[in-house]
Amino acid sequence: MTKVIHYGIIGCGMMGQEHLRNIALLKDTNVKAIYEPDIEMAKKAYALAPNAIFTHTINDLLSIDDIDCLLIVSPNFCHIDQLMQILDKRHIPILIEKPLFTNENDVAKLKKFRDAYKSHVWVAMEYRYMPPIQALSEKILQSTGKINMLTIKEHRFPFLEKVNDWNRFNKYSGGTLVEKCCHFFDLMRLLIKSEPIRIMASASQSVNHLDESYDGKTPDIIDNAYVIVEFKNNVRAMLELCMFAEGSRYQEEISAVGPIGKIEALVPGPGRFWPEHLGPAPTPKLIISPRKPQGPIHEDIFVDEELLNAGDHNGSTFFQHQKFLELVRGNLQLPEVSLLDGWKAVAMGLAAQKSAETGLSVDLLDKNNYPT
Ligand SMILES: NC(=O)c1ccc[n+]([C@@H]2O[C@H](COP(=O)([O-])OP(=O)(O)OC[C@H]3O[C@@H](n4cnc5c(N)ncnc54)[C@H](O)[C@@H]3O)[C@@H](O)[C@H]2O)c1
Repeated sequence: MTKVIHYGIIGCGMMGQEHLRNIALLKDTNVKAIYEPDIEMAKKAYALAPNAIFTHTINDLLSIDDIDCLLIVSPNFCHIDQLMQILDKRHIPILIEKPLFTNENDVAKLKKFRDAYKSHVWVAMEYRYMPPIQALSEKILQSTGKINMLTIKEHRFPFLEKVNDWNRFNKYSGGTLVEKCCHFFDLMRLLIKSEPIRIMASASQSVNHLDESYDGKTPDIIDNAYVIVEFKNNVRAMLELCMFAEGSRYQEEISAVGPIGKIEALVPGPGRFWPEHLGPAPTPKLIISPRKPQGPIHEDIFVDEELLNAGDHNGSTFFQHQKFLELVRGNLQLPEVSLLDGWKAVAMGLAAQKSAETGLSVDLLDKNNYPT
């Protein structure tokens, strides 16, 4: 008989509930306990996991004996201190939502955690597990010959409302290029298979949230940016971000070009935001465009309806959980997205923000800017 794996969840708002819906699709799993301080969010989580124990503190949750693994899905600024709290109490596998930390001053704590924690940490990078991005990754070399240029364009809706509005200020979210773009910096490293050496960015807050006020303060988060990254293997990558473009058919358009051709993945945003009067939500696509003979080849990449309904990320949360469960069961030796991967993605985001502020490029060969 397969052992049931018991999960403990810290923070269970919008994304935590997506995790609950996806864990429910995995055999022999059980959400044992949830720490969620907001009553309304706790009620929604209870509706999805009625057998879970709702604890009053994180310490109470960590004291429950038969929890096998932990998920951290709290606001970004809580992550590092919660890792430290877990370090003091319980060493079991953790799946932690991105970004791992929000401020360069957190790095000292992160190093202490890395050196002392006796179990696995997997940083949740859902974009890696989206079927169209997996298809792009599988065919990228045969389609391009070798990647020379990689462009990630994200045109999407503004940041949603969050509990206590933590995503409206750089101080709590880490800033837009950390909070959400850490996904894309992670993808760049994954696809290019090299490390970044220099980053430069131009960005501003031009449209969104300017008429909002929280305790007399206006949000300070970037809503559009261009970021250029140079890699050690002489590949260059670019991120184009626009957060007032929800009219777009696709949310992410990723392209790689090399000497023999080009490959693109077109990734739709959450289906629940697609206007009903426009018919069914777009299907992800892969397009391969050889130079010789010319003639782009289009392929639809279908995602199971049940997985689409379980979240906003093209089924990726489910595929990530499948793999994380294998790690917890001991069938996978190491996390696919390590603590160092999560750290590097944040370091690139922080460097991009610094570049946008100063107008200067940031040297990522300098170990004060990027971990080795
Ligand atoms: N990988 C992805 O694609 C993706 C998508 C969305 C969110 N996220 C990440 O998931 C995390 C949660 O984001 P969200 O969208 O669910 O936000 P949210 O505001 O909907 O949920 C966060 C929850 O944490 C709770 N909380 C507040 N303080 C807490 C504390 N000290 N300890 C535990 N819980 C606390 C809040 O009450 C809230 O319910 C963030 O780190 C975010 O970056 C990742």
